[in-house]
Amino acid sequence: MAEKETLRIAAVADLHAKKTSQGAYAEMFAKVSQAADVLLLCGDLTDYGAAEEARLLARDITTSLRIPALGVLGNHDFESGKQDEIVKILTDSGVTMLDGSSTEIDGVGFGGVKGFGGGFGRRALGAWGEEIIKHFVHETIEEALKLEAALARLRTPQKIAVLHYSPIQATVEGEPPEIIAFLGSTRLEEVVDRYRCSVVFHGHAHHGTLEGRTKGNAAVYNVALPLLKRAFPDQLPYRVVEVPIAETVPT
Ligand SMILES: [Fe+2]
Ligand SMILES: [Fe+2]
Repeated sequence: MAEKETLRIAAVADLHAKKTSQGAYAEMFAKVSQAADVLLLCGDLTDYGAAEEARLLARDITTSLRIPALGVLGNHDFESGKQDEIVKILTDSGVTMLDGSSTEIDGVGFGGVKGFGGGFGRRALGAWGEEIIKHFVHETIEEALKLEAALARLRTPQKIAVLHYSPIQATVEGEPPEIIAFLGSTRLEEVVDRYRCSVVFHGHAHHGTLEGRTKGNAAVYNVALPLLKRAFPDQLPYRVVEVPIAETVPT
C-alpha cells in the first residue's frame, strides 16, 4: 500500500461540556472519526471546570471516537480548581493531553499548551509597574516558554501548534475591543514562527474570525465551536485541515 502523503487534522474548541451534556458529542465524534485521522480538542472542554462535566465528555469520547485525540485545557477548565482531575479523566479516555509537551502522529508533530492573554503587537502588555501586572505578564511568558519547549522537541518536517488562546489578533477580531487583549498573546506567535509551525489551532474567541496568518505565514484557525456553528450552520462543528506529511519544498 502506498504511504499516506497527508494527514487530515480535525479540530474543535470550546465544547463547554455541561452536566446536562450527556451524549451531546457522540454523533460528532462518530462522524469526525470518518472524516479525519486525528482530532484536536483546543480547550474549554468543560463549562465550569467540574470533574463531572469532564466525565460526561470522556464517556462520549470512549464510546464514539475512533481516531487519536490530542487536547489542551482552556481557562474554563481551571474554574473549579479541578484541572488535574480533568486531565486525568480525559487521559484515561484516551486523549493525549498536552501542556508544554509534544507528540507525533504519522510523522506530523504537535506541540500544545493552553496559552494566556496579554494582547497583540506593539500594544501588548509589558512587565512593568505593579507587581500584579508583572505576575500577569510572567504567566504569558511561562506559557510561551512551555510552547517553545514542546516545539523544540519535534524533529518532524511539519509542526502544528495546539492552543486555547490565540497567537494573533486577526482570529479574535469580531470580539468586543475591550477584551481583545485577554484573548491571546503575540508572545505565542513569536514562538510559532521561530519554530516554523505550519498550522496553529486555537479557540477561546467565540465571536472571533475563522482564519488568519502569523507574520511568519503559519495558517491560524480559530475553531471555537460557537463560531463554527455560526459559520457552517449545516455542518457538525469541527474543522478539517489536511497537511502534507513531508515538508513542502517551495518551487
Ligand atoms: Fe470558551
Ligand atoms: Fe476560553
